[in-house]
Amino acid sequence: MTDRIAKPFLKWAGGKTQLINDIEKALPKDISNDKFTYIEPFVGSGAVLFWMLNNFPNLQKAVINDINRDLINTYKTIASRPNELISILQILQNEFHGLEGQDEEKKEYYYSKRELYNTRKEEQSGQAALFIFLNRTCFNGLYRVNRKNEYNVPMGAYKRPTICDKENILAVSQALQKVEILCGDYEGTLNFADNNTLFYFDPPYKP
Ligand SMILES: C[S@@+](CC[C@H](N)C(=O)[O-])C[C@H]1O[C@@H](n2cnc3c(N)ncnc32)[C@H](O)[C@@H]1O
Repeated sequence: MTDRIAKPFLKWAGGKTQLINDIEKALPKDISNDKFTYIEPFVGSGAVLFWMLNNFPNLQKAVINDINRDLINTYKTIASRPNELISILQILQNEFHGLEGQDEEKKEYYYSKRELYNTRKEEQSGQAALFIFLNRTCFNGLYRVNRKNEYNVPMGAYKRPTICDKENILAVSQALQKVEILCGDYEGTLNFADNNTLFYFDPPYKP
């Protein structure tokens, strides 16, 4: 158990943490009155999701969705196997931090983990840990894959980045207990709407 407030566990292109105040102003005025379902069809790092879960106790149920399978695998792992995930992240963090000041070895380590991630052969929590590791250590927290769905972002220049934020993973895991986690096209989420549902859409921008 943890008393910490859940926050996004990833850096994500188009993350909305900076825009929460504007989004809050656009919410329906009576949102705090009744129980409601919250649906986020393009969840990404979930900046709005976590803010909603932390601020609206009358939010009865949430449904999140994204087309990125590896991202959704990570949400599901945090929800169901947080401690297993934390143990793997702790090892990755210790090993990576242990290479600080040895640039070549650090690079080798990053690219070997990227290669391992791209095999997609690790079991669920190992794959999720690699997803978080790459997000924390890559260039600018980018997620980019080639046509073969191989992650191809180069290493970033962070010194001792936080890879294992244990307290937040536990807080996120707790917060996700009332969240249904889906992977697919955004249209599928329409089936989960009831008579009091708030949708927040944040689709990708076309280049
Ligand atoms: C702008 S980002 C959302 C950012 C999010 N609001 C945040 O705070 O991190 C858009 C997301 O839509 C997802 N996406 C792209 N096409 C999709 C589709 N057809 N259906 C569902 N999700 C999709 C992407 O994987 C990406 O995570």
